[in-house]
Amino acid sequence: MKTIKLDINYEEYNSLEEMDPEDQMLVKEAIEAQKSSYAPYSGFNVGAALLLEDGTVVRGSNQENAAYPSGLCAERTAMFAANANYPGKAMVALAIVGGFNHTLAQTPCTPCGACRQVMAEYQTLGGKPLRVIMFGEKKAWRFSKVDDILPFIFDSFNEK
Ligand code: THU
Repeated sequence: MKTIKLDINYEEYNSLEEMDPEDQMLVKEAIEAQKSSYAPYSGFNVGAALLLEDGTVVRGSNQENAAYPSGLCAERTAMFAANANYPGKAMVALAIVGGFNHTLAQTPCTPCGACRQVMAEYQTLGGKPLRVIMFGEKKAWRFSKVDDILPFIFDSFNEK
């Protein structure tokens, strides 16, 4: 038996201005995306902006439904739209913002487990690291790849 330690590195920012220009652009796109969030049941509005390898930005927002499980998170809305409309283009960065009643939370908006799993699959499919930016007005986090937010990824590609 041995104990193994897992190291995860990520960057923390205290303002939008402190971030890389490309990340700033993507966060601003996510803020725009949040405007189209349809969340009458939870009141929590999420916006996501996904950067493809060719520079295309695909926006997504959470879409709820009276039949609750029929709704979808902002991140998956963006990723599914991207692979449906731009198949074969690797996803290279994803920014996420969120807050109640169309406001921006102070702390980073962290993606749910199901969205992380979907990010992992598209990262493998694209063959490039998918950077994840979780933005909050007072604090933002930047992870350079999905592996850092979903250790021990289920990846059936490994078996091929
Ligand atoms: N939501 C997202 O859009 N992304 C996440 O990663 C977590 C949660 C949405 C789903 C639902 O519409 C609302 O936020 C409250 O859970």
